[in-house]
Amino acid sequence: MNIAIVGTGYVGLVSGTCFAEMGVNVTCIDVNEEKIQALLNGNIPIYEPGLDEMVLRNNKEGRLHFTTDITTCLNDVDIVFSAVGTPPDEDGSADLKYVLEVARTVGRNMNKYLVLVTKSTVPVGTAKKIKQAIQDELDKRGVSIPFDVASNPEFLKEGAAIKDFMSPDRVVIGVESEKAKEMMTRLYRPMMLNNFRVIFTDIPSAEMIKYAANSMLATRISFMNDIANLCELVGADVNMVRKGIGADTRIGNKFLYPGCGYGGSCFPKDVKALIKTAEKNGYNMKVLKAVEEVNETQKGILFKKLLEYYQNDLKGKKIAIWGLAFKPETDDMREATSLVMIQKLTEAGCKVKVYDPIAINECKRRIGNAVEYATDMYDAVLNADALLLLTEWKQFRMPSWGVVKKTMNQAVLIDGRNIYEEQEMKEIGFDYMCIGK
Ligand code: UDX
Repeated sequence: MNIAIVGTGYVGLVSGTCFAEMGVNVTCIDVNEEKIQALLNGNIPIYEPGLDEMVLRNNKEGRLHFTTDITTCLNDVDIVFSAVGTPPDEDGSADLKYVLEVARTVGRNMNKYLVLVTKSTVPVGTAKKIKQAIQDELDKRGVSIPFDVASNPEFLKEGAAIKDFMSPDRVVIGVESEKAKEMMTRLYRPMMLNNFRVIFTDIPSAEMIKYAANSMLATRISFMNDIANLCELVGADVNMVRKGIGADTRIGNKFLYPGCGYGGSCFPKDVKALIKTAEKNGYNMKVLKAVEEVNETQKGILFKKLLEYYQNDLKGKKIAIWGLAFKPETDDMREATSLVMIQKLTEAGCKVKVYDPIAINECKRRIGNAVEYATDMYDAVLNADALLLLTEWKQFRMPSWGVVKKTMNQAVLIDGRNIYEEQEMKEIGFDYMCIGK
């Protein structure tokens, strides 16, 4: 089977590579020549464990190709995936200009039946616009070529993308014709041997599932952050509460970890977009608005604790930050708590020194010299008046506390991801604060 994937961003590159790994002949297309050239030279533009090796191998073995030219491959492919970006526009709606441009390009260049499948997260109703865009181009050309559209949202998590793609909890496919259903079944059949569920739905439902899933997960996090803040006030311990409620199988124990806010490319964007979709349809998503508000406040929670600790006087304090990425195993800093934190600290007159195992370059690209960059985690805490843990990278879990304490000016530790034992930290001599107790 031959397929094309337009957009070599996170989702496009991971999906294309994983399909190639399953024996499909995949052409990845991107308008960005630099990116394609880099991929052809074996340079992978994103950090994702295991991806480089898989890209290089499949490319070498002839199943994974990279090009900037969509026209040449359209005659040979059965399915075209669209995995281009849908950045939020000014009002928070998903901007569909790239998605519709792919549809028009396909319409201008296709000469045989194909299915155009949307993998990008797009608002309900987008498939209709895509279909119309293709049809308009075919009409302009004066040709009549049958085609289908489908929706196949992607649920992979950064840092675990390959595993998530290869053995997902489920694959959701929205179709409106038997032929498209057959084609998609054929494509996913080798992977179905991994026993995951394929759920076929109509197209609007598939589009909605992605937003509803991400919004539900974001809701769980904001809910737990609210509960954690209340636990602090009433003298309860959120870790115990989390275990207690997670043992109810209706609730489940995953995704209940309070912290210093969620970030990333999906939750913030999708929550905003769903609120907008609702508004456009005359509906007010009250719960999701609160989810967003709680998250904004939570991103500043460590600053609030620090401010209280130093009795509103942070001027000239040296603050160390461990972790810049929005979560471990990625260099992604989109909507990361670290950015909010750095801004608040520098505005309050602090000197900030940061360390992250992977995201230092990304941070330099974003904020340049606004902070000092440490060479390792111990260098970050040199003479620091407080250490803030923002991202729970494995290497931060068990540092040599003796060294850290000696290196710091004041042994103050604020743990934004609840990864340390309160008792142990106190015994070592830290003034230790965390979330929810
Ligand atoms: C998410 C969805 O999980 C995935 O299905 C979808 O395809 C894209 O969005 P991702 O953004 O890669 O994936 O990261 P995820 O691991 O879900 O974490 C998102 C954020 O939530 C992180 O900032 C993380 O720290 C935070 N989080 C997660 C919590 O604060 N508490 C939790 O219990 C879980």
